[in-house]
Amino acid sequence: MKHPKTLAKAALLVALGLGGHRAAAQAQTVATALPPPDAKMQQFISKLMQQMTPEEKIGQLNLVSVGFTVTGPVVSQDVDAKIKKGLVGGVLNTFTPVAARKLQEMAVSQSRLHIPLILGFDVIHGHRTILPIPLGLAATWDLPAIERGAHLAGQEAAADGINWVYSPMVDIARDPRWGRVAEGAGEDPYLGSQIAKAMVHGYQGPTNDMTRPDNVMACLKHFALYGAAEAGRDYNTTDMSRQRMYNEYLPPYKAAVEAGVGSVMSSFNDVNGIPATANKWLMTDLLRRQWNFLGFVATDYTAINELSAHGLGDDKKVSELALNAGIDMDMVGEIFVRNLAQNVKEGTVKQADVDLACRRVLEAKYRLGLFQDPYHGISEARAKEVLMQPAFLQTARDITRRSLVLLKNDNQTLPLKNTANIAVVGPLADRPIDMLGNWSAAGDAKQAVSILQGIKNVAGSTVRVSYSHGANVTEDAQMIARLNEHGGQLNIDPRPADAQIAEAVAAAQKAEVVVAVVGESQGMTGEAASRADIGLPGRQLDLLKALKATGKPLVVVLCNGRPLTLPWENENASAILETWFGGTQAGNAVADVLFGVYNPSGKITMTFPRMVGQVPIYYNHKNTGRPYGGVALDKYKSRYLDVPNDPLYPFGYGLSYSTFTYGKPSLSKTSLGQGQGLDVTVTVQNTSQRDGEEVVQLYLRDVVGSSSRPVQELKNFQKILLKAGESRQVSFHLNPDDLKFYNDDLKWVAEPGEFEVMTGSNSRDVQKASFTLTK
Ligand code: BGC
Repeated sequence: MKHPKTLAKAALLVALGLGGHRAAAQAQTVATALPPPDAKMQQFISKLMQQMTPEEKIGQLNLVSVGFTVTGPVVSQDVDAKIKKGLVGGVLNTFTPVAARKLQEMAVSQSRLHIPLILGFDVIHGHRTILPIPLGLAATWDLPAIERGAHLAGQEAAADGINWVYSPMVDIARDPRWGRVAEGAGEDPYLGSQIAKAMVHGYQGPTNDMTRPDNVMACLKHFALYGAAEAGRDYNTTDMSRQRMYNEYLPPYKAAVEAGVGSVMSSFNDVNGIPATANKWLMTDLLRRQWNFLGFVATDYTAINELSAHGLGDDKKVSELALNAGIDMDMVGEIFVRNLAQNVKEGTVKQADVDLACRRVLEAKYRLGLFQDPYHGISEARAKEVLMQPAFLQTARDITRRSLVLLKNDNQTLPLKNTANIAVVGPLADRPIDMLGNWSAAGDAKQAVSILQGIKNVAGSTVRVSYSHGANVTEDAQMIARLNEHGGQLNIDPRPADAQIAEAVAAAQKAEVVVAVVGESQGMTGEAASRADIGLPGRQLDLLKALKATGKPLVVVLCNGRPLTLPWENENASAILETWFGGTQAGNAVADVLFGVYNPSGKITMTFPRMVGQVPIYYNHKNTGRPYGGVALDKYKSRYLDVPNDPLYPFGYGLSYSTFTYGKPSLSKTSLGQGQGLDVTVTVQNTSQRDGEEVVQLYLRDVVGSSSRPVQELKNFQKILLKAGESRQVSFHLNPDDLKFYNDDLKWVAEPGEFEVMTGSNSRDVQKASFTLTK
């Protein structure tokens, strides 16, 4: 695992006024693992535990829910009474200093041993100030900005009474049907690992000092392999070789552990036959013994109870299995409080193991400084000062702009210039709530800027901006009902779809350019939101076709939480801007890009397929014995008859208003011995009249080895700013570790033979050089 090369990059960003103050601080960040409990902590906890009854110890393993967000079938009952009896270790789903203080007071002044609560919440991409969904954050390829975003979210959460956030979500995902791809960083283990570290340090602080009132404890999720759910259907089985796990899916979890993440959440899914929450190999052998994780493990929502549906036994049995696997805290299911005492009595669970779980939960509270200040510095005055402060909104706008990906731009349709009359059309144009995206925590739709509003704000009063809805986001009654039930507040126009389209066409005819804001509503991605058809839902494509027929330039602005299939759009739109769900400042940020106030620099971190039948589709695939070389009549090759193998938009792809050209990579050596590294240099030139940022990407292929290896793997990248016309040599150092992989015996090795180095603007458009690793 490599260390992020943040130093030079952060310094550059600071110099450009882009990375901000925090980037400079983070440049010093070293991936420090969680320190082992020191003697003082151990003594304090031992002394406390000596006073605890077995029941109180089990109480520490109990995490209950109050408030509104419920993602499972169970709701916690009699919470206050249980807290007072010492039967609750933590609470999730509530915030505000008043609510947090009330709960904490109950625990510290009315329970026998005065043990404070850990207070958790799903702070996934911002807390009050909502940032782009994580898939969008990843598209910034901007680690200081991501760290800054996580810190901002943590600061707000902490000021709002939360001390434990359920983020980062680092599940590698290659199947866009899975709704939760929106919550992660995409398909790449290297990029995912860098982002995982940046987020842990954003939340916990660069040295993991969680006693500071503006730091919170992070919770790494979902351990493990949840992103490989079969058929992209949520909660589904995962089954994969250990080699694939170690090389492709586990690196981001490991990186977060190495960065010192304080807690881990077990995932819902089955892993090679043993559901994660009962999987001792995963929770103990791998996480604790191999990776030396020193924090605590909580389950996902009612995941222990769900072991029964997985077929592992009744409540008592699954309680035993989960605790013995290495689970410390039971989220909402109350399986431990109901069964562990009996498990211990019957000898299926050792008291020593219950004690260990209790100790780990208490250690987390200690690390947060809650035994000194259970309120973690909260006050209403502080909340008022911190939450949604103007500087945070400005940061959010900046981060959101960086997350936008320009997928197409024919004839420089964008940025819009000298346009006096714009028709804004589409079901997502005037939808602040959808801008917040799924898992938008305590985000307030009333504070979010819609794309229509953003366009008006940035265009200024001389530009005429008309708006028409054009189509419903979906026509599927069942989906509408489900989304509304989960707070989607869909605004469904009851008029016939054709009438809505006709109205939009009439508006388009009067304008010089059409900006069509289409995609998914926020509830169409996220948990339990898998889709089998990943094209534009409802009649939105018909709307685009009708708009195209007007002959006006058609700018498609996409709001969505997953790669979509966009063949017609790619063929016919004048320009396409992928905006994900951009958060509180989405509208302003999108308008900044549309009007060229900001030059787009985002790149996709998940492959966009041509059609859904291609999934799972990812850039770092293997070659097969019969790779298809693109010759139409090449028969017995690994290919489809009806669609090319390659995607619509490859991993790492994204355009700019600037144009960049790349030279061939040059290597400092073409032969190296074991343990040696080499430098790769590539010249990148901005050949346009405009300053712009570019993500220079470095891939490697291990051509010969004892195992088949991917055709390319991202090993490094640099996001650089090049002035108009500027040419720069960009250098990377390839470390000996960059050449290593887990072989069939799961040994981390670099094998002699040829390696190809590829550099370029995305995973497809690369130029190559090669070197040999000798014995
Ligand atoms: C989700 C988690 C989340 C938890 C608590 C679960 O349903 O899978 O990601 O952190 O609920 O809300």
